[in-house]
Amino acid sequence: MQLLHIDSAITGEQSVSRQLTARTVAAWQAAHPGTRVDYLDLAVQAPSHLSVESLGFRTGQAAATEAERNENALSEALVSQFLAADVIVIGAPLYNFSVPSQLKAWIDRVAQTGRTFKYTDKGPVGLAGGKTVIVASTRGGVYSTSEGGQAMEHQESYLKVVFGFFGITDVRFVRAEGVGMGPDAKAAALASAEREIATSTSEAANQARVSQAA
Ligand SMILES: Cc1cc2nc3c(=O)[nH]c(=O)nc-3n(C[C@H](O)[C@H](O)[C@H](O)COP(=O)(O)O)c2cc1C
Repeated sequence: MQLLHIDSAITGEQSVSRQLTARTVAAWQAAHPGTRVDYLDLAVQAPSHLSVESLGFRTGQAAATEAERNENALSEALVSQFLAADVIVIGAPLYNFSVPSQLKAWIDRVAQTGRTFKYTDKGPVGLAGGKTVIVASTRGGVYSTSEGGQAMEHQESYLKVVFGFFGITDVRFVRAEGVGMGPDAKAAALASAEREIATSTSEAANQARVSQAA
């Protein structure tokens, strides 16, 4: 089994989401011995924003310049890496009500017609189904417990839509929210996330996914 571990937090050693992705990957490996792990640190090496040079995968036009060739190669490497993974563990902190722009830049590279989705006469069809995505979601405030909060966050809701669009229905969340609301709230959030790590990485959770898909 191939696991792709992605971090996107810009907060270095203080990062809560990095702590949670590391714990999640370790727990997954313990429950699924032999899992191979590929690592992508988007805070260190984020793809550039889409530009006229990097739109080749959308227009289908052959690269005419060195810059276009380089951009195409990067998009191809990222989408291939994503497609090769059975499980993707993503650290996705809430920054300004959404995901870090580094993570958005990665999504823009893997959202490719003919690779992760296609359009048909019946509408869009995801091409990357059968994968498991585990999102380590961290938030300074609390958003999950009220309709107002849920409407304000464009992080978990956005990721669910994007991966759903790619055909991935098994999107699990390990959430620590309220980490900016004092030490007690942070400790409770981490304890709750720890419980979610245990349930989302267990073999039982995986079996449930497999029988659901069958
Ligand atoms: C640039 C920035 C923007 C943030 N924006 C929000 C926000 O919109 N809502 C919120 O509840 N917390 C916000 N926070 C707090 C983070 O969600 C919280 O600190 C979380 O732990 C971040 O994950 P990390 O520790 O992995 O970086 C923000 C933090 C940073 C650094």
